[in-house]
Amino acid sequence: MSAQPTAATTKTTVPLLDLTAQLKSIEPEIRAAIDGVLTSGRYIGGPEVSEFEKEVGAYCSVPHAIACASGTDALVLAMRALGVGPGDEVITPAYSFLASASSVALVGGKPVFVDVEPDTYNLDSSKLEQAITPKTKAVIVVHLFGQCADLEAIQTICKRRNLALVEDAAQAIGAEWQGKRAGSWGEIGCFSFFPSKNLGAFGDGGLVVSTRADLGDKLRLLREHGARPKYNHIELGMNSRLDALQAAVLRVKLRHLESWTEGRRKNADIYRQALAGVAVGLPVARQEARHIYNQFVIRSPKRDALRASLTAAGVGTEIYYPKPMHVQPCFDALGYKDGDFPVSEAAARETVALPIYPELTRDQVAYVAERVREFASSSS
Ligand SMILES: Cc1ncc(COP(=O)(O)O)c(C=O)c1O
Repeated sequence: MSAQPTAATTKTTVPLLDLTAQLKSIEPEIRAAIDGVLTSGRYIGGPEVSEFEKEVGAYCSVPHAIACASGTDALVLAMRALGVGPGDEVITPAYSFLASASSVALVGGKPVFVDVEPDTYNLDSSKLEQAITPKTKAVIVVHLFGQCADLEAIQTICKRRNLALVEDAAQAIGAEWQGKRAGSWGEIGCFSFFPSKNLGAFGDGGLVVSTRADLGDKLRLLREHGARPKYNHIELGMNSRLDALQAAVLRVKLRHLESWTEGRRKNADIYRQALAGVAVGLPVARQEARHIYNQFVIRSPKRDALRASLTAAGVGTEIYYPKPMHVQPCFDALGYKDGDFPVSEAAARETVALPIYPELTRDQVAYVAERVREFASSSS
């Protein structure tokens, strides 16, 4: 008699992200693009980079798009282009990836944190004005997990107080607020092509965009050693170029981005239906927003036990982010303490991201949702 399958041998596993599934769906196009670069002999700059800049600029509805080496560099370049330096303050959310604040400190400025909204985890516009001082030069707004912050309210405050608005859209390519694309609202928009982003390279990559020609020009200058003309350095710039190979890969992927985004949105709908009435907090999508679900983040006061039970069931999860900015050791000198931003602190304790990538099957999403439902009913 053959052995019956055990729970262990039949267990479904659903990783948080499977980039090989995406590759499989477009492999011939990717290999052709890479071959094209290899045989072209142009490995830095050249047509792949300039065409990618045009295409992604059009996708984001911005006239000036400058590719660079990472999303972190995009933010640092933004700070440099706006002239942020010692003595300047830049307001940024207390709950985000480190680069939304380290970019300010790396150019000598001071990050000033503001708490986030309890349901979207984006900068709380009602708390913005009280953080503005005569030293404030700019606001970095983060579109966390793929949903824009309240850009209309924040832009109105920035205009009234004469502050530059920078969008950290690292997680939000193709997201919209009131039908207008992320990155096209502020003076400068910053994107990341880290592999786990909705548009991900095979390595690091980033992009800065601007609606202003003067800033576009300055960003281009700063990206490559401030040289104009070549070997005449009028500014202290960086070497922050996007490789031609990554540009060629990203051009292929950009053609598929809308359908991948729709796949993520469909998976989010499946989760929402399957988890209706379950005692976990679901992501709140604002009516004004087109959410692109770089992450699908749920919430539970029993987050750690929920995560452990999902891990035991073969479901990959991640915590974005377990420690808010103001309590990061690298910002000790800023003098913040635990308790300063309670909404961010609670989010860091209670949230967990579920698999949402577009290649997931309906059954996989249903399996994950069922494990969440089981946990919620067994622990209530
Ligand atoms: C919100 C946010 N800002 C900035 C970055 C930095 O991007 P990169 O990893 O490409 O430097 C990331 C990416 O991890 C991010 O999620």
